Amino acid sequence: MTWMLYGATGYTGKLIVEEAVRRGHKPLLAGRNVEKLAPLAERYGLSYVAFDIDTAGLFVANSGIRAVLHAAGPFVVTSKPMVDACLRAGVHYLDITGEIPVYEANFARDSEAQARGIVLISGVGFDIVPSDCLAKTVADKLPDADTLEIAFDALLMDGEPGITAGTLKSMVGILPGGSRVRRNGVLLPYDLGAGGIVKPFGGETRHLMPIPWGDVFTAYHSTGIPNITVYMTLQPPAWHALRASGVLLQTLLRFAPLRRQLDRIFDAYVPGPSEARLKNGRALLYARVTRRSDGTSAEGWMQTPEAYAFTGISAVNAVERILEGAYARNGTLTPSLAFGADFALSVPGTRLLDMPLLD
Ligand SMILES: NC(=O)c1ccc[n+]([C@@H]2O[C@H](COP(=O)([O-])OP(=O)(O)OC[C@H]3O[C@@H](n4cnc5c(N)ncnc54)[C@H](OP(=O)(O)O)[C@@H]3O)[C@@H](O)[C@H]2O)c1
Repeated sequence: MTWMLYGATGYTGKLIVEEAVRRGHKPLLAGRNVEKLAPLAERYGLSYVAFDIDTAGLFVANSGIRAVLHAAGPFVVTSKPMVDACLRAGVHYLDITGEIPVYEANFARDSEAQARGIVLISGVGFDIVPSDCLAKTVADKLPDADTLEIAFDALLMDGEPGITAGTLKSMVGILPGGSRVRRNGVLLPYDLGAGGIVKPFGGETRHLMPIPWGDVFTAYHSTGIPNITVYMTLQPPAWHALRASGVLLQTLLRFAPLRRQLDRIFDAYVPGPSEARLKNGRALLYARVTRRSDGTSAEGWMQTPEAYAFTGISAVNAVERILEGAYARNGTLTPSLAFGADFALSVPGTRLLDMPLLD
């Protein structure tokens, strides 16, 4: 039991357990709900410990573990108590968040983490491993670029939900703050629904919308590029609706009772991607860097397995690298700074493309 998985009972937590056990790991399973944890642990022959996130300090310090992989979101609620616990106990901290406030908070604790001899690495899942690694790969082709655009399509298998209740709840938690872009090194608020574009993407015309994806914060640290926008593809009806009503949605989501009601609906009606989707789905990412003084640019594409399937594997890869000591240094890091720009390629089925291949 060299590491603990907190949030093991969630949709993504279970994917991580499955992948870890498949590779012979015996993580200590953890979460807040003993009734969900006990059968999960029994099924895989693993030990478990149930505790509320606010008491993490006690359990992290006394479990004899070297690392925590935190998979219980929304992380704006759950990350700080676990990071506090890890810093106090001198235990490495990794999570699968995509929430910008969490990256911000953890980067502010870089010197604490260095002093304790641990890493704080957020975003070891689909958000942000492939986009972070692709951005770094492309940025290295044009060292003095000053603008980075990232776009991704994680919903290439249309027709069935490709998202979990946990992800939707995390989104609803941060969308009242609107979107984010980075300009001249500074994170700026950006209205939800503003800046949408329609352009060829992966051989088709797609509708793209700026979103507050983790790279808006992290790619500045990974690449040094001060102007960053991240776009996600949307189906045209969703794109038009967001364009027309993004600011209204942002405002409505400030009402906590509405958020709580939505959380209940997501829990009741959003089961997460099916087995078939996990197996056959895939995602496509694009990054372009530009040097504005002369308009020179460089670009690249990456294809990955389905986003949650990717997350299950890449999170375990990150834990393994930490336990093996195969990472750049202690402190707060992005995945590409910790493990190199080719880290995403350690997930089978992930590849860099000169041109996007669609079959
Ligand atoms: N980086 C990525 O690409 C990526 C990929 C997948 C997921 N995620 C993120 O990971 C998180 C979990 O996603 P999921 O798909 O597994 O969702 P999920 O199926 O809804 O699971 C959520 C998990 O978090 C736990 N949890 C929620 N609030 C908690 C709290 N206050 N204290 C302790 N535990 C709490 C839940 O415990 P109970 O079972 O007791 O309710 C459950 O184990 C979300 O924030 C999601 O956005 C990120």
